[in-house]
Amino acid sequence: MKTIHVNASKSYDILIERGILDRAGEEIKTVCGAGEALIVSDDTVWDLYGETVLDSMQKADFDVTSFTFPHGEQSKNLSVYADILNALAARHLSRKGLVVALGGGVVGDMAGFAAATYLRGVRFVQIPTTLLSQVDSSIGGKTAIDFGGVKNIVGAFYQPKKVIIDPEVLETLSRRQLMAGLAEAIKMAATNDAELFELIENSAGLTADLPQIIYRALMIKKNVVEQDPRETGLRKVLNFGHTIGHAVESFNAGKLLHGECVALGMIPMSGDNAAARIKSVLEKYGLPSKIGQSAEELMPFL
Ligand code: GLY
Repeated sequence: MKTIHVNASKSYDILIERGILDRAGEEIKTVCGAGEALIVSDDTVWDLYGETVLDSMQKADFDVTSFTFPHGEQSKNLSVYADILNALAARHLSRKGLVVALGGGVVGDMAGFAAATYLRGVRFVQIPTTLLSQVDSSIGGKTAIDFGGVKNIVGAFYQPKKVIIDPEVLETLSRRQLMAGLAEAIKMAATNDAELFELIENSAGLTADLPQIIYRALMIKKNVVEQDPRETGLRKVLNFGHTIGHAVESFNAGKLLHGECVALGMIPMSGDNAAARIKSVLEKYGLPSKIGQSAEELMPFL
């Protein structure tokens, strides 16, 4: 098992190990003790891994139930957020309770925001199941919902107690979702780690290189969020590609994945040499590299 310790306003460990999902309960118990817990997930992830996590938490003596919502960005809204709060209130979860986010970026953001606000904050653990959430969104405490057509406009900085990463779960991810996550790793590499960028550029077998890509991307994220947990300066580097990317994402309303939009958003923000290398690496992995909208079309969403 690899452990990365993060010290960003609160400190916590990221655990990375193949098969760790089977003993997620034990690992959670070491930081939270066994008590009341709600696992929040989406329908797709729950069908694949819900029972495994539920069983492991029951074996570790948690009094645990679950709440699931339909997968996808369209669920990241006020109404589903209220449904999670209702599930917490219906369980009478107390301030000693725990929320476990089992899923990708949408689940992590929604469950994290519910944990940050229910009873002014209950404990929270992230079990990210997509490459995007494993390399980026589960770390650093950003939680949010979309509102009024704008992404992530309502949210909180709220750090998890632990992040549990099982690279084995990536085997059930579609190639499109995997590549969308890789776009965030390319972003990390382009801004912080030339060797990682070259590794992704030259990788002959992505599957074999993924553990190293995940680890190096997480080390970048750790270093950035430790220096600037609330994004007053340096952390803005992690938003590379997101200004135009979010506008493309909002314009296309659900047709493109977040990582695909970040991929597109990096190119116009780069100088000629960097843009050419980024474009070529995106094309290598079948990611989009040409924005389909004009500046005028995107401007209202920027
Ligand atoms: N995903 C960008 C950040 O965490 O700041």
